[in-house]
Amino acid sequence: MASIFAGTTVLITGASRGIGAAFAAELAGRGARLVLVARDAERLAAVAESARAAGAAVEMVRLDLTGEGAVAGLVDELAGRGITVDHLINNAGIGLVGRGDEADLSAQLRVLDLDVRVVTELALRLLPGMVARRRGGILNVASLGAFQGLPWLSTYGGSKAYVLGWSEALHVELRGTGVRCCALCPGPVATGWFATAHVERPPGWPLIQPAAVVARAGLRGYERNQSHVFPGFAARGAAWLTRTVPRALAARVATGFAKPRRHK
Ligand SMILES: NC(=O)c1ccc[n+]([C@@H]2O[C@H](COP(=O)([O-])OP(=O)(O)OC[C@H]3O[C@@H](n4cnc5c(N)ncnc54)[C@H](OP(=O)(O)O)[C@@H]3O)[C@@H](O)[C@H]2O)c1
Repeated sequence: MASIFAGTTVLITGASRGIGAAFAAELAGRGARLVLVARDAERLAAVAESARAAGAAVEMVRLDLTGEGAVAGLVDELAGRGITVDHLINNAGIGLVGRGDEADLSAQLRVLDLDVRVVTELALRLLPGMVARRRGGILNVASLGAFQGLPWLSTYGGSKAYVLGWSEALHVELRGTGVRCCALCPGPVATGWFATAHVERPPGWPLIQPAAVVARAGLRGYERNQSHVFPGFAARGAAWLTRTVPRALAARVATGFAKPRRHK
């Protein structure tokens, strides 16, 4: 069966590394034209080069998505370049470890800005065109952390809970429009995310998954028009377990994920 991505344009945010780069690699062989967005020009160029080597047409946009007017500017720039985005992979995201009252306030607000405001604004600016064309959609990268409070990563966990709930609601609203919306809910993935978020002891094998496996699962769930997708049985099982215990207990259990040593 032909991929739904063949002959379409896919915009991937946070494409310079990690899961975003894995999405680019996976889609490169599926006949899609890629628009890759991130801040690091060198890394972005390296991802673009491999995607081109695999046969994809690639556009790069070096951009801090949290900059003032950046999202609107990106949408206008793409329109100006005659690029119509069929599929959006809303992937760029950051976290920050710390107790809510202790962690830097402006850094916590940056988490909300990128993980919630940018994700929402970009989707809502692109959705009307998708609905008018009656095709395409949005794959939002949420997290397993969306299923319960995530102590020591509270703003991050809260952001991902928003992304999951918002995506599931959009999925229902968009029924009959020809446009899809899916939330990808990975557990720990082997990327630089943990270092950026200052997680002291990232989970290791067998809990952590390769970015390529996660990206492939996300695309599969999106192609099947699922409202959400888990990249594997462990993530699905963990989400299920979370829902079988009281919410307060689930949040207590999750505390082990990121608690800093000095708070032990
Ligand atoms: N790794 C995990 O365990 C895990 C688990 C569940 C969910 N997730 C989610 O998966 C998504 C991808 O994470 P990852 O693991 O691939 O992390 P990563 O390796 O740290 O990559 C994050 C990407 O976001 C981009 N980015 C960060 N700030 C940006 C900004 N202001 N403007 C534009 N781009 C920005 C980064 O590029 P530049 O630095 O070049 O801008 C990079 O390409 C995130 O939403 C994350 O929350 C990750």
